[in-house]
Amino acid sequence: MNFSETGILQQEKVRIKNLLPDIGIEQARQEIIDGLSSKDPSISSKFFYDEKGSLLFEEITQLKEYYPTRTEKGILKAIAPEFMNRNRSFEIIELGSGDCSKISILLKAAERNMPHIKYIPVDFSQSAISDSANILSERYPELEIDGYVADFIHQLNLIPHSEKDRIVCFLGSTIGNFNKTEAKEIIKNLSKGILKNDTLLLGFDLVKPEEVLHAAYNDSLGVTEQFNKNILNVVNGIIQSDFNLDAFEHRAFFNPEQSRIEMHLCAIKDVEINSPFFEQTIHLKEGDSIHTENSHKFTRESIYELIDEAGLEIKRFHTDSDNWFALVEFKKKV
Ligand code: SAH
Ligand code: AVI
Repeated sequence: MNFSETGILQQEKVRIKNLLPDIGIEQARQEIIDGLSSKDPSISSKFFYDEKGSLLFEEITQLKEYYPTRTEKGILKAIAPEFMNRNRSFEIIELGSGDCSKISILLKAAERNMPHIKYIPVDFSQSAISDSANILSERYPELEIDGYVADFIHQLNLIPHSEKDRIVCFLGSTIGNFNKTEAKEIIKNLSKGILKNDTLLLGFDLVKPEEVLHAAYNDSLGVTEQFNKNILNVVNGIIQSDFNLDAFEHRAFFNPEQSRIEMHLCAIKDVEINSPFFEQTIHLKEGDSIHTENSHKFTRESIYELIDEAGLEIKRFHTDSDNWFALVEFKKKV
């Protein structure tokens, strides 16, 4: 998350632009302060992803307990040959692209088409975008890459739309990290941004036995715990606060009413938090928690409900043999 530097890379085939300075660090500070000072303190999960957080997330995706990544990749591999069999030039825009391992599956299936594909990764994490661009441009020197370090909620309209057909990918069930109202709004905006020949490819993590869900967010190596606690380092960097990571423990549980995993950081003793941007010190009592993430788990019905007013129709609904994850192809309703 870099709120100051704009031009990052400009080469013949690879360009990376940072749009975060348009938002400015003040807005990020205010969002963090508002969250921490509320009755039920929270920090938005988008603040997980500094360089270290992005690397920790990559580590999570390789854990034996964290089934979503390998399950979604399995579906992607199965659909890629047909999905990428296109005879016109097109662009792939990927929101919250992270590392490039998922898009690599699609690109591999279109290997001979590379000069006709433009890849547009959009992510908060500058390191994730730069690392992905490096890997992909080395692997596919003819692939055009236009990366954006940007907020996909507020800045999608700043990304130019060419005449080419578009595939918009929003994978990993990152849509599940938003509440229902936000998720509906995001999907509506994505729908507004696509045209008749475009495709929207969305990944949804599905409801499954609670012990599987619980293990995925309470892994035995403690990587999710480190990922969760690292958000306090990110916050310390943005608001110059003095969170001590050792004063908190990781807590993740399934909330069946809301059909979501909740992650919290629980104070293991009374703590005081100071920042030059606070009007007053924040006090947390032992047992108080800071809510850091929701990860909603979907059913077919809840997916239909999300897209209900978005002007989209489902073209194909793909799942794995256990019905643990869904990858859904949408078209604009005409
Ligand atoms: N799609 C990848 C990564 C998922 S992790 C996968 O499936 O493995 C979520 C990613 O979304 C992170 O890289 C994070 O930086 C990014 N992200 C979260 N909120 C964002 C926002 N509002 N704008 C841009 N990127 C965001
Ligand atoms: C990015 N997002 C979909 C992940 C999830 O599962 O909600 C983030 C994550 N949090 C803990 N582990 C992984």
